[in-house]
Amino acid sequence: MGMEGPIARWYARITRPSLPEFQALARRVADAVPPAGSVLEVAPGPGYFAIELAKLGGRHVTGLDISRTFVEIARHNALEAGVDVEFQQGNVASMPLPQNTFDYLVCRAAFKNFSEPGTALGEMHRVLKPGGRALIIDLRRDVAPDAIRREVENLKLGPINAFIVRQIFRFMLIKRAYTKGGFRQLIADSPFRGGDIQESLVGVEITLTK
Ligand SMILES: C[S@@+](CC[C@H](N)C(=O)[O-])C[C@H]1O[C@@H](n2cnc3c(N)ncnc32)[C@H](O)[C@@H]1O
Repeated sequence: MGMEGPIARWYARITRPSLPEFQALARRVADAVPPAGSVLEVAPGPGYFAIELAKLGGRHVTGLDISRTFVEIARHNALEAGVDVEFQQGNVASMPLPQNTFDYLVCRAAFKNFSEPGTALGEMHRVLKPGGRALIIDLRRDVAPDAIRREVENLKLGPINAFIVRQIFRFMLIKRAYTKGGFRQLIADSPFRGGDIQESLVGVEITLTK
């Protein structure tokens, strides 16, 4: 499921105010990756996390997204921020990247969108260095409606965008999201074999090690 043109531009606009969340995630990842290390963000969209990580310096940051519009937006955002991030276009299910390359991989709010999730996990495993880690952050399928309402409120959108986002959660995102058990099965069938799965009110955080 790609996001192109006006939809990508709208997403970039409504998620920009969540910058503090991207900054906090960047600090967390920076703590986990040595300064000369290499980090891949799979499906970075507008690139906010990858750019915040690059601002912290030292690490080589790459982003790979299937959407040509998002790659353009992310390159523009990196240029504007004055940081060097290599944003490339490509599908997570067949990444145009060499094996054993990255120390760390991040995939946020995107895994449920992948049409070949098992192949995606296999590719994530392939491009990580031995000992490298993947962090997948996504929505949990059994999220409570109240938790979604609060999550959307926190985005501080106007009433029309808040209504649209609530409908997107209800009719699209929750239907595509995985339960903890669903994730556990997908991971067991992947080359990672196992991993750590933590649940929060709205989402799951999965850490996998090659
Ligand atoms: C909801 S956006 C999330 C963007 C960003 N990670 C964030 O946290 O805001 C989902 C992203 O997944 C990307 N995507 C969907 N399918 C993909 C695939 N097969 N390979 C790579 N990227 C994909 C979309 O283009 C989009 O950028």
